[in-house]
Amino acid sequence: MVSAPDSDSSSSRPNSPISPDALIGSLAQFSHYDNEPHIGTHFDDPSTQLSAILKAPNSDQLIKDLATLVSHRGVVFFSSQDLTVQDQLQLGRRLGELSGKPKSSTLHRHPISEDTPELGADVSVISSMGGIAKAGYKEKKRASDGWHADITFEPVPSDYSLLKMHTIPLTGGDTLWASGYEAYDKLSPALQKFLEGLTAIHSGEIFIDYANKFDLKINSPRGSPENGDTGLVAVHPVIRTNPVTGFKSLFVNKSFTKRIVELSPDESDNILEYLFRHVSENHDIQLRYRWKVNDLAIWDNRSAFHTATHDYTAFRQGNRVVSIGEKPFFDPNSRSRRQALGFPL
Ligand SMILES: [Fe+2]
Repeated sequence: MVSAPDSDSSSSRPNSPISPDALIGSLAQFSHYDNEPHIGTHFDDPSTQLSAILKAPNSDQLIKDLATLVSHRGVVFFSSQDLTVQDQLQLGRRLGELSGKPKSSTLHRHPISEDTPELGADVSVISSMGGIAKAGYKEKKRASDGWHADITFEPVPSDYSLLKMHTIPLTGGDTLWASGYEAYDKLSPALQKFLEGLTAIHSGEIFIDYANKFDLKINSPRGSPENGDTGLVAVHPVIRTNPVTGFKSLFVNKSFTKRIVELSPDESDNILEYLFRHVSENHDIQLRYRWKVNDLAIWDNRSAFHTATHDYTAFRQGNRVVSIGEKPFFDPNSRSRRQALGFPL
């Protein structure tokens, strides 16, 4: 189990409520606001540049506090960033390292990302023209079918993703995020208890289909010695503990989760369908972000879901770095976010 960072008061005083103001740490000096009560913080002043934070004398503390904030708030935005791809890779590496991930975890190489020598194998191009962002997408599917956390089909999946959008349509192409903590907290205690300890199969078969269609090879290994299998299947806990916050999160998603192992197929289909709708239909656990050129989002895939909006025809493209975290676990002694923050249950 990965230990929580020192700045997380939930580890040192397990029964005391955490003040939301305490989560911002050394980043309090930068202009920011919370997008929604349960998810999202936005550093909205373009003079706050991650490129400068990376070079600051206290950069380790700033980046560690950023990782803690992202893990608490689900997703954090920075406006109008001049960060280069190389700096984005460096930030992706340091967020996980400074928040305590295993040494064997590095950056993810996506199973179907093609080599783009100018960017490197650890960068995924997110483009309206095809590739990762379009695999499995069908015009007539419901938009809510796209909810997911990145690469949960990996045995050792992602902690943080960083996406910088450099080309956006005049309107459209928003991304939505939802809190996995609040998804857990909104379930009844009886259903919470039922789901704790269950495990589910996650599959990246949409990328295998895409690779077959375009005659691509499945890349391997992918950011961890354990992420080498080209079958793209993993089994993870249905309720997962985020090691940075110590909070419980719902950890099944519509795109990749196929089956709850301990249930019959019919039971699994019905429970999963309910949980997918629980995420997509509760707009009080979500935010919707309208991108501006060179905005950068960082999110925690262990406890936040996201989905794209395919409502535009213009060219849209950005660069994504996905960091590999730890093997998912459920700690029965972990707390829910509402418990930890002293919110009503
Ligand atoms: Fe994604």
